Amino acid sequence: MVRTTAPSTERRPFRPPVTADSFASPLHDRRTAALLGIALGVAFLVAFLTGLISHFIQYPPGWFLWPSRPAGLYRITQGVHVATGIATIPLLLAKLWVVYPHFWGWPPVRGAAHLVERISLIPLVGGSLFMLFSGVANIARWYPWNFNFPTVHYWVGWITIGALVAHVAAKIGITRSELRRRSRDGASEAVPAAALPAADGPGGLGRRGFLTTVATASGLLTLFTVGQTVRPLERLALLAPRRPRTGPQGVPVNKTAAGAVVTELARDPAYRLVVEGRGVQRRLSFTLDELRAMPQRQAELPISCVEGWSSSATWRGVPVRDLLAMAGARDGATVRVQSLQRKGGFKASTLNRDHAVDPDTLLALELFGEPLHIDHGFPCRLIGPNRPGVHQTKWVTRLVVK
Ligand code: HEM
Repeated sequence: MVRTTAPSTERRPFRPPVTADSFASPLHDRRTAALLGIALGVAFLVAFLTGLISHFIQYPPGWFLWPSRPAGLYRITQGVHVATGIATIPLLLAKLWVVYPHFWGWPPVRGAAHLVERISLIPLVGGSLFMLFSGVANIARWYPWNFNFPTVHYWVGWITIGALVAHVAAKIGITRSELRRRSRDGASEAVPAAALPAADGPGGLGRRGFLTTVATASGLLTLFTVGQTVRPLERLALLAPRRPRTGPQGVPVNKTAAGAVVTELARDPAYRLVVEGRGVQRRLSFTLDELRAMPQRQAELPISCVEGWSSSATWRGVPVRDLLAMAGARDGATVRVQSLQRKGGFKASTLNRDHAVDPDTLLALELFGEPLHIDHGFPCRLIGPNRPGVHQTKWVTRLVVK
């Protein structure tokens, strides 16, 4: 008698051909993810806080008063912001590589909390990649977008940090237990312990080797760029978009006179500097020769660009506070400093009450003992302590006192 087996009516649960278990490398483990996560968390927090400072200086809310001292503080905060962003690139790429098998996790959703956690990964991963890409493109002066960079970079920063806080809340338990665990390559949910080859064995990069490689990449990127603001490392700034001494009179220029369409106006013998506004008792007007004949002051101050480079220089010119005193400006006045430039976001800037009365806030006429080069703002430019370069207005023609 021939016995036949009846075909089974039981359905086997669907399982996609690729799942989280399909990725064999032991480096896709929780401890590596947790260690890289901590480094990323610190880096993103530092970049976020220093970025907030820069944003509030440029678009100050009513409660925010950025002091004029210490003179080089902005140079440090913005140098740290850009350096941290650059150093974070290898960390982020490594972290995403370590955790990407999770994107094939099956079932994709294991309940409401898991769904929320997964959705929050979209702003976390998308936001992190956007922040680093847009920041690097910006310092390379490449703008492949049509939006206003500071506004979008600022708001995506908030979204990313919000998503990061949610992510840390979801992963803090795992991170803690992974940190407590002593064994080098203990069990991970994603990869069973038995499947793990010796961490530093021949033929494969162990966790320590992998993390050392990532840290080295991060360190080298920093070393080859940070010389754009740290003078002793200037010669190593091979990957930096700017060198601190490259430019007319040995100081870099972002906006030239031709780019700002001010060349003729700046060279016009009819040039005048005017001090006026409702905060003064008398309106004043000066020719360039009259400005030159006034008592001058010399100050050693950096130009500190939002793009992360900075360069110290010796400036000489008329202190703004002397002009305010001559015009009978009221105490605590703020001053709108206007350029000959007619178009563009940085054709004017504001001196808050602290910057307006700082003795080193100058309308500079000279740089390193020579008349200003036209690309540095001839006939006169604003230079003050602890200000971003975009607020050191060039080709100044009017001070409006409020
Ligand atoms: C910008 C920063 C970060 C990004 C883009 C990021 C990205 C990710 C992604 C996409 C996953 C996989 C999620 C899943 O489906 O389970 C993950 C997992 C994880 N992250 Fe982060 N993360 C960041 C920061 C952090 C921080 C600050 C910590 C630590 C406090 C952390 C600790 C972890 C841990 C422990 C896991 C779980 C790994 C596992 O279960 O194998 N991450 N991260």
